[in-house]
Amino acid sequence: MRGRFITLEGPEGSGKSTQAKLLAEALAARGIRTELTREPGGTDLAEELRKLLKHWRNPAEQMTPAAELMLMNAARAQHVAYRIQPALDAGKWVICDRFRDSTMAYQGYGRGMDKTFISATSAAACQGCTIDRTLFFDLALDEGFARADRRASTAGNFDRFEIEDRDFHERVLAGFRAMTEAEPERFRRIDASGTPEEIHCRVMEAICDLLP
Ligand code: TMP
Repeated sequence: MRGRFITLEGPEGSGKSTQAKLLAEALAARGIRTELTREPGGTDLAEELRKLLKHWRNPAEQMTPAAELMLMNAARAQHVAYRIQPALDAGKWVICDRFRDSTMAYQGYGRGMDKTFISATSAAACQGCTIDRTLFFDLALDEGFARADRRASTAGNFDRFEIEDRDFHERVLAGFRAMTEAEPERFRRIDASGTPEEIHCRVMEAICDLLP
């Protein structure tokens, strides 16, 4: 039997990555075989593309929005073919920190690229792989910024997305909210404020109907 495909989405600093780990651990504790992964990334080639996407910095040759979109989808095509689909076919649950809704939010709402084109290119990268549930971690922009700031100052530097201005991040957040409203069957909105334990409880509630 095919496993379940769960994606976690949201703005910077919304706590998705911590929650992805906690969810994978909780499922494993119930005897469910899980695969925890992330985008962009998740395979050798896709992780190489992630480095470029996050850290390419050359003032004489900036990454164009079209190149950014294509690289995101190139990484996704590898990830779906080599990791996500094989895991689902083997009956595992795949927990993915960001997936194609991030492309619509960041490249579509954020960068202003054509949304029909984004849907078409994402579909090509996904190769028919469908999502069972998407958890959208909703958090006020300033709270997310404060968390991302703390992380970047510990990690040493901001990436290409984190340095974007407030308007960009407002558009991204508005995009996630609009997508969540437009597709209530697939999306669940998670209030991402509070402690990791409190948020984890909300996550488990949001997927409990999928549990065996
Ligand atoms: P993160 O995984 O550390 O959050 O970094 C990934 C960054 O890439 C994040 O700022 C969102 C961005 N991103 C896109 O712009 N489009 C995409 O399709 C994906 C998956 C991520």
